[in-house]
Amino acid sequence: MKAALFDAKPYDIPGFDKYGALRGIEFKYYETKLNEDTVSLAQGADAVCVFVNDTVNAAVIDKLTEYGVKAVALRCAGYNNVDVEHAFGKIHVMRVPAYSPYAVAEHAMALLLTSVRRIHKAYIRTKDFNFSLNGLTGFNLHGKTVGVVGTGRIGRVFIDICRGFGMRVIAYDKFPGEGIDYVTLDELFAESDIISLHCPLTEETRHLVNRDSVAKMKKGVVIINTSRGALIDSEALLDGIKERKIGAACLDVYEEESDVFFRDFSGHIVEDDTLARLMTMPNVLVTSHQAFLTEEALDNIAAATVDNLTAFFGEGVCPNELCYRCGRIEECRRGRKEKCF
Ligand code: NAI
Repeated sequence: MKAALFDAKPYDIPGFDKYGALRGIEFKYYETKLNEDTVSLAQGADAVCVFVNDTVNAAVIDKLTEYGVKAVALRCAGYNNVDVEHAFGKIHVMRVPAYSPYAVAEHAMALLLTSVRRIHKAYIRTKDFNFSLNGLTGFNLHGKTVGVVGTGRIGRVFIDICRGFGMRVIAYDKFPGEGIDYVTLDELFAESDIISLHCPLTEETRHLVNRDSVAKMKKGVVIINTSRGALIDSEALLDGIKERKIGAACLDVYEEESDVFFRDFSGHIVEDDTLARLMTMPNVLVTSHQAFLTEEALDNIAAATVDNLTAFFGEGVCPNELCYRCGRIEECRRGRKEKCF
């Protein structure tokens, strides 16, 4: 079985080589992202393996189908970059639903601590033998209210971490679970000192943080986004920061990240004015979609992707297929006992 792996990075290759060799899958690595211009590289492959910023739109799906590619194996949980509806009946799509919720939740807390204790400032200062503390005053997390949007795998781990810090946790989820103090979104915006986003990007959640919601938030609120960039309207975020309404933003994801993230732009001019302006703010912390990047998560991603492909091509059914038959992607009425189509 041959798989074309797009947007390949040096840290991806060892895991895919290891698990691929064990299961007889030959991975061919392409540094370029999958899109309409690069899709021809998939010719001859049985499957393509893609990540968060590859484009699997209708045009790409049609080309893959024409080339006889049978499966799109996402090596991530989110699938907002795949036109799953268009794929139905043409090409099977599978994902890695969970590889390490701890990696992402811990990164969210790392960003929060870095931001509120000014570690990023202190690090640069002490490297320059400047041991002054002026301007580094932070605030305690203990006793603060954190509002968590999305209480799935990652959101729940983040909640546990916050509880360990003695924070009051409130949450909003479209499908509430047990053991968490759920409130409405408006209540969450109004009461939270810190807001952390852990829901998927859908038409419903796009620009969940916008001018209206920022207006409802507490002055000085810290916003953390380790989920998907377009959950936040970046212009509204920038204005909220300029107006001193938003106290800090911790961003592992950015709306237009696919043009910038995972690449080295040092020595180049970044065209994205909003990102460039955000980066000039002392209270904005950006990491480039790094939250998943732990040794444990990379190993789990490679193992699970190879398992998905092995199950699909071997047993004919993959439990992690994104089924669109019922029109409700994650709630397959067929119980994953057979292929989606
Ligand atoms: P999950 O599927 O376990 O949980 C998502 C939660 O969001 C569920 O409880 C669901 O009910 C809730 N939800 C769905 N629609 C909602 C809505 N309209 N409003 C509020 N809540 C809603 O997903 P998991 O594993 O916790 O991942 C969360 C997100 O984290 C993913 O969608 C992905 O975008 C992002 N992610 C980011 C990574 C990074 O490296 N920065 C790595 C992995 C995931």
